[in-house]
Amino acid sequence: MKTLIIVAHPNLPQSRINRTWTEALRRLPNLTVHVLYEEYPDHRIDVAREQALLDGHDRIIFQYPLYWYSTPPLLKIWMDEVLEFGWAFGPGGDHLKGKEIGIAISTSGTAASYQPGGYNLFTIRDIAKPVEALANYVSARYLPPFAHHDANHATDEQISESTAAYISHLESVRHFQTPGLVTINK
Ligand SMILES: Cc1cc2nc3c(=O)[nH]c(=O)nc-3n(C[C@H](O)[C@H](O)[C@H](O)COP(=O)(O)O)c2cc1C
Repeated sequence: MKTLIIVAHPNLPQSRINRTWTEALRRLPNLTVHVLYEEYPDHRIDVAREQALLDGHDRIIFQYPLYWYSTPPLLKIWMDEVLEFGWAFGPGGDHLKGKEIGIAISTSGTAASYQPGGYNLFTIRDIAKPVEALANYVSARYLPPFAHHDANHATDEQISESTAAYISHLESVRHFQTPGLVTINK
């Protein structure tokens, strides 16, 4: 299983959570850590290069701070440009078929706020439904999300714990069962 971590943080040097995660993951074998804002500071994405990178990995994790319940802008640009018709979907568009797609995100909202009835109204799985739908659309398998909440109040110890939990998540996470596939197999 070759894993590609696509990191999308607009200001990684000033980040606490995503910077710590990224530095730790860069020290691990069998992982490719690809930092979009470092690779493409001008936002001009090399689509062929990105597609080749995806072809060479089985599992893709989008790692980002939650921005207005969504991804930072460069990751959206990346999705719009890299996941092309005829490559990711449509005729001949089977390059992501059978791969795994997941997210690892940080939020300033607390864990309780991302529960039904919390002040953010929705769970992280609910909020990240566009990525889940994307995975479904390209015939990939969606992984349970990993999240670190209350980022602005995190102590160094809590960030160390979340880094260890993230690594453990990457080692053990298994994709959600896809109801559609169960139906097809009946
Ligand atoms: C433009 C912007 C939008 C944000 N939107 C959200 C949001 O919708 N929900 C949330 O919980 N935090 C939000 N935040 C807070 C960031 O998610 C938080 O600062 C980040 O996850 C901390 O991680 P870091 O230490 O890696 O920067 C936002 C921050 C910025 C700058």
